[in-house]
Amino acid sequence: MPSFGGLLKKRRTKDSQTLSKELEAGSSPTAAQTQTSPNAAEHHHHHHHHNHNHQSHPPTNHDHISTADSAHTYHSSNQSNRSSDAQRTHPEGQPSSMQSAVTQSPAAHPQSGQHQSHSSNVASIQNIIHSSHQSGQSATGGQASQQSQRTTKGKYSLEDFTLQRTLGTGSFGRVHLVQSKHNHRFYAIKVLKKAQVVKMKQIEHTNDERRMLNRVRHPFLITLWGTWQDARNLYMVMDFVEGGELFSLLRKSQRFPNPVAKFYAAEVTLALEYLHSHQIIYRDLKPENLLLDRHGHLKITDFGFAKEVPDITWTLCGTPDYLAPEVVSSKGYNKSVDWWSLGILIFEMLCGFTPFWDSGSPVKIYENILRGRVKYPPYLHHDAVNLLSQLITADLTKRLGNLHGGSEDVKNHPWFAEVTWDRLARKDIDAPYVPPIRGGQGDASQYDRYPEETEAYGQPGDDIHGHLFPDF
Ligand SMILES: Nc1ncnc2c1ncn2[C@@H]1O[C@H](COP(=O)(O)OP(=O)(O)OP(=O)(O)O)[C@@H](O)[C@H]1O
Ligand SMILES: [Mg+2]
Repeated sequence: MPSFGGLLKKRRTKDSQTLSKELEAGSSPTAAQTQTSPNAAEHHHHHHHHNHNHQSHPPTNHDHISTADSAHTYHSSNQSNRSSDAQRTHPEGQPSSMQSAVTQSPAAHPQSGQHQSHSSNVASIQNIIHSSHQSGQSATGGQASQQSQRTTKGKYSLEDFTLQRTLGTGSFGRVHLVQSKHNHRFYAIKVLKKAQVVKMKQIEHTNDERRMLNRVRHPFLITLWGTWQDARNLYMVMDFVEGGELFSLLRKSQRFPNPVAKFYAAEVTLALEYLHSHQIIYRDLKPENLLLDRHGHLKITDFGFAKEVPDITWTLCGTPDYLAPEVVSSKGYNKSVDWWSLGILIFEMLCGFTPFWDSGSPVKIYENILRGRVKYPPYLHHDAVNLLSQLITADLTKRLGNLHGGSEDVKNHPWFAEVTWDRLARKDIDAPYVPPIRGGQGDASQYDRYPEETEAYGQPGDDIHGHLFPDF
């Protein structure tokens, strides 16, 4: 049993059927489009596509994935059986789908595929990661600086942004939609109250959050543009990801059809592979931290528990449903906890609930995790059950992802047989669901509403904790 000394996050309980859509409809500040800086050409291009696509499809209420109508996403032609909004031209202009990926990939392997060669994918993924991918633009209007050289200290202040509504709340602070006064683009700013961070003993985690985010650059990871602090708060400027949380989509859909879960799981797998190759454990995988971009691809946010761990660590942290047994029992653990959580995530996407959930009581959840018995509902595909049973496995010498083949073993599992990994890494595979973002940039309609912060940011005062956060 955990000592309860560490920090455990709560799961979102509220249903995401909110008023946000009515409140936000049509009110987003699209005027920004005309005022962007010169290097925004490619963004214009994207928006053009999307506006076009929106206009060419009637508005629809189907803002969820139903198990029935999109079950064939990967196996149908380009035009049919997508969730209603998904018939899009790909942002790069190439129509593509899982279908084309399917035809290029070898047939499902009879066994788990662990012995397959795994050199080609690694090479291509690395190329993509280190190529000129730029997911956004620096918030002061300059071109994105070279990756790994984003020196962000002292670059921004509250005066650079117009604060808008809250997008989400977390354990120590909240995330706001903001607009840059310089380039008029939209960003998300995570605000953490220093006193709260100190009280909850999250100083190191918070410094790590900034440091890890600053180091990573990957198509499926959120981009951090800069940070600063004032007397009371820490601020982190990220890209605003318009499509909302995967959590909201999952709750609306109840559960995802096999191919839809597979798509999201595959993108997460590439992100974990990248993080682990940089010795970073993520430690907080769950649908609340997976955001959808406007094309429906994933962005992982919330690096609050991400940490550089070359070998082993002991901190109890995460979210109860998603904790690996070695974390629960306070043993040393390593990157393989993320592969366990991937199993929980896939299970939750396919079933609509987590395997160890038990009346919401953490202690009961821990007991279930340690007992390790998973009941796989009969509607699960046998490949999925096979993969899940190899990820949600307490024995670290058997857990997929933690074996000799590393992440390649996961990628080569039969459940992922249709996935063409290099195309996926290029976002060259259509997402199964495209969020209905109708208001252009800055449309936050895909996010739930939260009561707004009442305490004004940027107030002067004694900064007693500032020295604890030297990098902000
Ligand atoms: N870049 C972003 N764009 C849009 N929304 C975001 C972004 N980053 C975070 N959010 C929203 O804010 C929520 C809270 O952010 P985050 O998870 O980083 O905070 P946290 O304090 O670590 O949360 P928790 O303790 O609940 O895990 C997210 O679940 C998401 O809804
Ligand atoms: Mg979070």
